[in-house]
Amino acid sequence: MSDGRRVIGAEHVEEARARGRLVIEVLPNDIVTALASETAERLGIRLVDGPIERPAVARTDGATSLRRVLYRRSPKWGAPTPVTTRNARRLTKLALIGAGGVGGNIGHLAANANIAEEIALIDIAPGLAESIALDLNHSAGITRSGTRAIGGTDLGLVSGADIVVVTAGRARTPGMSRADLIDINRRVIHASAEAIRTQAPNAIVIVVTNPLDEMTVEMLRATGFPRERVLGMAGTLDSSRFRNALAMAAGVTPADVEAITLGSHGDEMAPIVSQARIKGRPLDIFLSPDKIEACVRDAITGGGQVVALRKTGSATLAPAHASLELIDHIRGARTGPVPVSVKLEGEYGIDGVVLGVPCHLGKGGLVEVEELKLTDQELAALKAAAEAIRSRLGI
Ligand code: LAC
Repeated sequence: MSDGRRVIGAEHVEEARARGRLVIEVLPNDIVTALASETAERLGIRLVDGPIERPAVARTDGATSLRRVLYRRSPKWGAPTPVTTRNARRLTKLALIGAGGVGGNIGHLAANANIAEEIALIDIAPGLAESIALDLNHSAGITRSGTRAIGGTDLGLVSGADIVVVTAGRARTPGMSRADLIDINRRVIHASAEAIRTQAPNAIVIVVTNPLDEMTVEMLRATGFPRERVLGMAGTLDSSRFRNALAMAAGVTPADVEAITLGSHGDEMAPIVSQARIKGRPLDIFLSPDKIEACVRDAITGGGQVVALRKTGSATLAPAHASLELIDHIRGARTGPVPVSVKLEGEYGIDGVVLGVPCHLGKGGLVEVEELKLTDQELAALKAAAEAIRSRLGI
């Protein structure tokens, strides 16, 4: 109607009935025809004076919806959600040394999540870091992220960073082990460490360059930083691969799987079967011992599988997500233990070597190492990893 008043006729009542509704809301200005009232009475539909107060629209995130679906399928199980908090700190500056596949993707994820005022990308290849920074800033008109990106070849761009992620160095090509990179990448770590030590002396350093555990030791030595502020990213990546392998084998979604890997980021990786759960239950309820062993192998060889396919380099996306997970733990967006390579000081009976173990992280980096109750076999695997790293580094 031209004056904006609604006429509720018999056809509206019939339509409401067809849709299974029991109530029709009548607003103060509405006109209800006599036939509509009669029809409503006949069909058992109530005409209620509005406006009716409506419950607030329930907004749910993807994880909650997923939990609800799972709950309907199996009332005993609800996928655990990562513990997230609302009072996460926004970083002043995140510096990324290395703007290749991993560094560039970390920049992208971090800018999208608006987690820092500034992201500085640094790469030895002229124009690469600047181009990514420009590209990220061009995206901000759509993403509306407040994070500004800068880029260049100068390591001095780390200046004032609260977190520095080091991905620079040679990546593996088919047939190479991570350990084959020690001599080449040691130099990159030392140059980065010098810049960090002098320009960002309070930063927390996350090492991603391979071979991960050895390069984390080099970073510790070269910066002279305490162990709390030199963390190696590998366990979050390897755990993600392990969870994915278990989910695929059991035919469930990765959100149904809890599992971590410890030890080195290499052949001595230790996926922890005793603590792993699918829908909250031990693995052997869902998988045969052979299948579990295949998942363990899959986690250990996951990085190599990507290298074999790609041929010119290694994985980029999962390592970037895994790095973001550590950053989120440091800035308080996530809590709970997370596998990180840190220098052990007696934990798990190991001293003076960097190894992947579950850690609580916070504003200052490492808060504490959590000592899980492992089986004798798992503990032996951790110790074997420590010895292998020691012998590779000659310590
Ligand atoms: C990998 C490399 C980054 O595991 O070590 O994919």
